[in-house]
Amino acid sequence: MGVLKGSVWGLLMIVWVWKLAAGEEEKCENRWIHIRRLPSRFNLDLLANCSEYPLLEDLCPFLGNHGLGQKTHNRSHSWYRTDSSMLELIFHRRMLEYPCLTPDPFLAKAIYLPYYAGLDARRYLYGPESNFSALHGLHLFHFLQQDNPQIWARHMAHDHFLVMARPAWDFSQPLTNDPRIWGTSFLELSQFFNLTALTLEARAWPWQEHAVPYPTSFHPPSLGLLESWLTRVRRSKRSILALFAGGGGGGGGGSSTPNVRRSIHSECENATSDPSYEKLCEIVDCSNGVCEHDPIRFMRPMLQASFCLQPPGDTPTRRSTFDAILAGCIPVFFEELSAKSQYGWHLPENEYEDFSVLIPKEEVVFRGLRILNVLQRIPRAKVRSLRQRVLTLIPNVLYRKHDSSPGLEDKKDAFDLAIDGTLDKIRSRVEKLDSVI
Ligand SMILES: *[C@@H]1O[C@H](CO)[C@@H](O)[C@H](O)[C@H]1NC(C)=O
Ligand SMILES: *[C@@H]1O[C@H](CO)[C@@H](O)[C@H](O)[C@H]1NC(C)=O
Ligand SMILES: *[C@@H]1O[C@H](CO)[C@@H](O)[C@H](O)[C@H]1NC(C)=O
Ligand SMILES: *[C@@H]1O[C@H](CO)[C@@H](O)[C@H](O)[C@H]1NC(C)=O
Ligand SMILES: *[C@@H]1O[C@H](CO)[C@@H](O)[C@H](O)[C@H]1NC(C)=O
Repeated sequence: MGVLKGSVWGLLMIVWVWKLAAGEEEKCENRWIHIRRLPSRFNLDLLANCSEYPLLEDLCPFLGNHGLGQKTHNRSHSWYRTDSSMLELIFHRRMLEYPCLTPDPFLAKAIYLPYYAGLDARRYLYGPESNFSALHGLHLFHFLQQDNPQIWARHMAHDHFLVMARPAWDFSQPLTNDPRIWGTSFLELSQFFNLTALTLEARAWPWQEHAVPYPTSFHPPSLGLLESWLTRVRRSKRSILALFAGGGGGGGGGSSTPNVRRSIHSECENATSDPSYEKLCEIVDCSNGVCEHDPIRFMRPMLQASFCLQPPGDTPTRRSTFDAILAGCIPVFFEELSAKSQYGWHLPENEYEDFSVLIPKEEVVFRGLRILNVLQRIPRAKVRSLRQRVLTLIPNVLYRKHDSSPGLEDKKDAFDLAIDGTLDKIRSRVEKLDSVI
């Protein structure tokens, strides 16, 4: 009896495994990815040096939980002190559980390079090697030329991709410039012209790179925890019209040239009242990076605000855009480079007016357009529909926790959408290449 039972189970197992394999085969058609094996100097060794990068705070605390960082508090399941530059680790960890991995590079549609490019860039950006920033990446190229060079050569690297967790600008220093100027030249090296780089921000005319969302602090491990957050966001009372969480633009210091941040500060300080809101405007002062690893500081106010202002800073994009979306706070942009021309894989490019507001910065700075007036004039019903649309974007812009429970995997998160986009981009590149040959 026991033997029979055993063999029936065995048979069932075989059928199940076979079905699983057949399903996998189908699901993975055109989606196979090979992870290139790289020596540890291209990834893990860079983590071992986490406390030694010059001029920067100690990175070691942010490496925990495969790059998610430490939990915000011990009982938290979904909230972490995440540093955006850890996307290289977070992505690598998620790649390891990607369902369509193949050990055979010649079966794969795409080759992932687990090189922590942004971490490695630090020694050129800040360190003693800043005079050699044109060399960034050449050691990787030499390795790929020496070790199984036919993998790189098969599609002339058009099928290779990697993550570079900084704005592409930081890697786009022309080779003819004095290397002491900010930035490395990784994306300017002809050796890397054909690969795809996932960056936190793309250039205005991107070639290799495509922007993916900044990692926020929210990494739910299960569908239940995501849904309870969505419920909280949906029910949250919005007593503030407009919120700005960020630094710069304050009264003291800074330049005297007009900028949007300055306009926001002066409008906020002078804001009067509105019967529909307890407060017209609030500023969460995030100067000196105090908010970066402390999401409680800005997530609570964002939950209470209808609109979250996203002025450009040193660069046009901000992590805060994604924090705001998570909080159901409608993002207000001041230029298209802040999101619309960047995150096409994650935020629907043709529907920006359904989930965000655009107030051109020139209108504000040079023609005196008042941001708060524009927002006050938006009818309440429109505000509600904008917010509802923002809520639908939440699952797409978060990076769920690795090893999350199965129910959550049905919702495409920022990682899944980045993979879909990368595979599409590589497919069209390789097709073009094949049609030429
Ligand atoms: C790590 O730091 C040591 C000492 O600062 C340095 O010699 C080594 O090159 C660094 N390794 C990497 C991979 O940056
Ligand atoms: C959180 O947990 C760690 C280790 O389990 C413990 O050392 C620490 O004291 C705890 N912190 C709090 C605030 O409970
Ligand atoms: C970089 O080169 C300049 C001269 O070209 C030199 O003055 C400077 O000390 C060098 N910096 C480092 C970190 O070696
Ligand atoms: C990049 O691809 C083009 C064809 O699209 C090819 O001519 C060129 O040699 C490739 N560059 C490298 C470095 O492989
Ligand atoms: C805000 O008020 C200050 C004086 O209290 C004034 O100098 C400034 O121009 C006002 N800003 C705006 C935008 O009205």
